[in-house]
Amino acid sequence: MINGLKKLEYRGYDSAGVCVADNNQLFVAKKRGKVSELEKEFLNEYGICSVKDGSHPCEIRSELKEVKGNMGIAHTRWATHGEPNEINAHPHFDCKKEIAVVHNGIIENYNALKEILEREGHIFVSETDTEVVSHLIEKFYNGNLEDAVLRAIRLIEGTFGLAIICKKENKIVVVKRGSPAVLGIGEGENIVASDAVAVLPYTKKVIYLSDNEMVVLTEGNYAIKNFEGENVEKTIDEIKWTAGEIEKRGYKHFMLKEIFEQPRAVGNTMRGRIDNDFNIKLSIDFDLKYIKRIIIVACGTSWHSGLIGKYLIEKIAEFPVEVDYASEFRYRNPIVGPEDLFLVISQSGETADVIAALKEAKNKGAKTMGLVNVVGSTIAREVDSGIFLHAGPEIGVASTKAFSCQVTALLLFALFLAQQKGVKVERELLSELKRLPAKIEEVLEQSGKIDPIAEKFKDSKNFLYLGRGMNFPVALEGALKLKEISYIHAEGYPAAEMKHGPIALADSNMPVVFIATKDHTYSKILSNMEEVKARGGEIIAVANEIDNDIIKLAKNIIMVPKCREELMPVINTVPLQILAYKIADLKGIDVDKPKNLAKSVTVE
Ligand code: AGP
Repeated sequence: MINGLKKLEYRGYDSAGVCVADNNQLFVAKKRGKVSELEKEFLNEYGICSVKDGSHPCEIRSELKEVKGNMGIAHTRWATHGEPNEINAHPHFDCKKEIAVVHNGIIENYNALKEILEREGHIFVSETDTEVVSHLIEKFYNGNLEDAVLRAIRLIEGTFGLAIICKKENKIVVVKRGSPAVLGIGEGENIVASDAVAVLPYTKKVIYLSDNEMVVLTEGNYAIKNFEGENVEKTIDEIKWTAGEIEKRGYKHFMLKEIFEQPRAVGNTMRGRIDNDFNIKLSIDFDLKYIKRIIIVACGTSWHSGLIGKYLIEKIAEFPVEVDYASEFRYRNPIVGPEDLFLVISQSGETADVIAALKEAKNKGAKTMGLVNVVGSTIAREVDSGIFLHAGPEIGVASTKAFSCQVTALLLFALFLAQQKGVKVERELLSELKRLPAKIEEVLEQSGKIDPIAEKFKDSKNFLYLGRGMNFPVALEGALKLKEISYIHAEGYPAAEMKHGPIALADSNMPVVFIATKDHTYSKILSNMEEVKARGGEIIAVANEIDNDIIKLAKNIIMVPKCREELMPVINTVPLQILAYKIADLKGIDVDKPKNLAKSVTVE
């Protein structure tokens, strides 16, 4: 369980806990902070506390050797309700400390349920929404844990992946609605987890659970049922990733490893999708001729790649595209219908806001498609058609290779659309696309040149990132990378927008990153650099040609190889990933697990 939690830690790491059932007892350990803290504290120094005297689980310590149980549940937390501390860490218990629960998701009506349960005499010890579940199960418990769980979840509004054990029964009950859960079928052992990476070291045979399904694990066996208690037949899938792929392989951080994996990852995204006659091959099994508009919806970095997708699809395929934040799309009254292609982009395939927006669009009759990296994820199974990125596992919370693969996949899709519509596509673009991995390699070979710039600006309090056209979303992405791993406030902006406000921030303390690679807006970007320079701004330029203008305007220049405009978003983003990484690393930050973040945001 500790190893499993470590594999899942990129999904949340503000506190952790384990509970082992042994001989009608529950042995519990909970700790604030990372799983290594839990392991260090309880396994090496204190052993595991027991709850046999009914006092708060963590006050009593006992020797490790007591615990021989072979069944347990464990959790690593990304706090939604109640601050990250030992009390709010999972598992949570009922009043008699006989039922233990771990949870991924949000119980939206927990306050109302808590009031009813408190009126019935239940005592709550934490601030979490989750604790309501253990008391609800206690309320309905009559010797059969499954029945009590099914009665309890009928009262719950919201999303959940729940794993529950009871000290009186030798079984684990898992129920899923809205949050991810996968069953790993091993040799003499079965493991349920929020993400396949946690079961991969033990087995590649998995069953992806769907909403409103329950798994009951007993010694050496499992049963899958629906919420009516009826058995459900499920197919066993095989995880394609290797256990090695989710290791750091000698890199200091997963993020750095994933930055340097981009040439191969982008190559994988293209593999088998451009034939020798430069026809784009994508397995999109619905007729595009009925589609009048494309709506791209995503969150965070995926939203930035979606913005670039709009530029590419409108430019290459001459197709109208709208881009929306999933969380905003979800709650406005979006005008969507059967003539719309609803394209969702998600590395994890589990982002709750995107799943909710997708369901909304499906209800309105739109055709749906997904750009997803994680095979078997909820979004991959919900959409009508999709393009897998084949980027390999992305563990670092800050997305890097997935972004480059998303933009590459969007370029392939734009070319595919154009070919479907009979719009002429320049061969030169397709042949240069095939050379994209090599171009990225060139950028990575120059990464050392970014060190002095990172050193110079690591103590800055603010940054501005500016770009025009497709380099505007690149500026947004550069700013997001810096924000999320170095904790420096940074904003990305269309360069021309500077004059309408942000230029008030320009002074010698404000580093301004200009994405100034040569394209049809180059002369305009030079004027914007002049405007910042005139106000003492310190300019860092990403350029692909050294000319007198750039030398005159920017003391700090990051060179990237020349390429076609359509490929620039990938080439221009890689050095910004490296700059953010180096600044965060110089600041001694745990780059893979930046504070307050999670790799996959499975709650709304
Ligand atoms: C990016 O570095 C962040 N991890 C975050 O913004 C992420 O892009 C966002 O949460 C969307 O995740 P998804 O692609 O898995 O849906």
